[in-house]
Amino acid sequence: MPAMNQSACGKAILLGEHAVVHGEGAIAIPLSNKRVKVHVEPKILAPDSKIHVIAPDLDINQELSDLPKQNPIFQAVRLTLSELNITQTPSCKLLVTSTLAFSSGLGSSAALAVATTKALSEFLGHPLPVETVNRIAYECETYIHGNPSGIDNTVVSYEKPLYFQKSQGFEFLHPGGTFNFVLADSGTSKSTQESVASVAQQLVERPMEGQAILTQIGQVVEQGKQAFLDGDTKTLAIAMNHNQQLLAALELSSPGLDQLIKTAREAGALAAKLTGGGRGGHMLALVEDSKLPLVYESLQQASSDRAFIAIVRNQG
Ligand code: MEV
Repeated sequence: MPAMNQSACGKAILLGEHAVVHGEGAIAIPLSNKRVKVHVEPKILAPDSKIHVIAPDLDINQELSDLPKQNPIFQAVRLTLSELNITQTPSCKLLVTSTLAFSSGLGSSAALAVATTKALSEFLGHPLPVETVNRIAYECETYIHGNPSGIDNTVVSYEKPLYFQKSQGFEFLHPGGTFNFVLADSGTSKSTQESVASVAQQLVERPMEGQAILTQIGQVVEQGKQAFLDGDTKTLAIAMNHNQQLLAALELSSPGLDQLIKTAREAGALAAKLTGGGRGGHMLALVEDSKLPLVYESLQQASSDRAFIAIVRNQG
């Protein structure tokens, strides 16, 4: 059984995080240059069915069976074996490396699940179709986040910009122009499960107001979707900035994120907002070509070199 390498991209939510959990639409883009990589190789002399996991970035170097049940690698292996009806695995080593920051709004848990599922199923000689990989990654997400909308696993599985709505599924979005984004890490990582729970709590405590904000986010997403399709950077920027105001009204921003947003706008970004679960994690700025070097440099400084550029291209 030869060794196998697979990888999965990160993601950024362009518009609509949190509201998507409550039935509104949302738009996500893949971050193809930020990836989780999984290498699986046989361990010839080890007893059967022993899977050893090494993930230096996650401080993991142990048997799979000793990992916590909410670990995406543990769940992805379990669900992949169950999908393939395999009870006895050949012993192997799983090495996980990443250029994607963990627990910071960029879909790392979905990327871990997708890369592990693809690498293991191919290692075992039964590569799974993308629909199955996506379904398994969604199940993994339910162990980790409790109540995921499904947008993260979907964009990471298909690696294309898409519009997602829980009741309707997803549609790929072909950008009508090229959009430049700069992302920067606020340096604080917050659990998505907790931020999703905090919105649910607000819907209990102030249902009218909370629901009105979610509905407005849904409207902003529709406006942004059309702008994305039309290649209309200015209108997309208005939608992103409005979305940030609405997310802040749900207490999902943080001082660190607010500071990065201010830095991005002062350096000339057309828009800046939190992305993903919020209350920490990454900020996403939309930037015209001419302002890209300055916005990038300013965000690099403000985030201690944890900024990067992602470009979504019109493929013609
Ligand atoms: C996390 O990337 C996006 C959230 O909307 C949660 C979800 O959709 O599952 C906050």
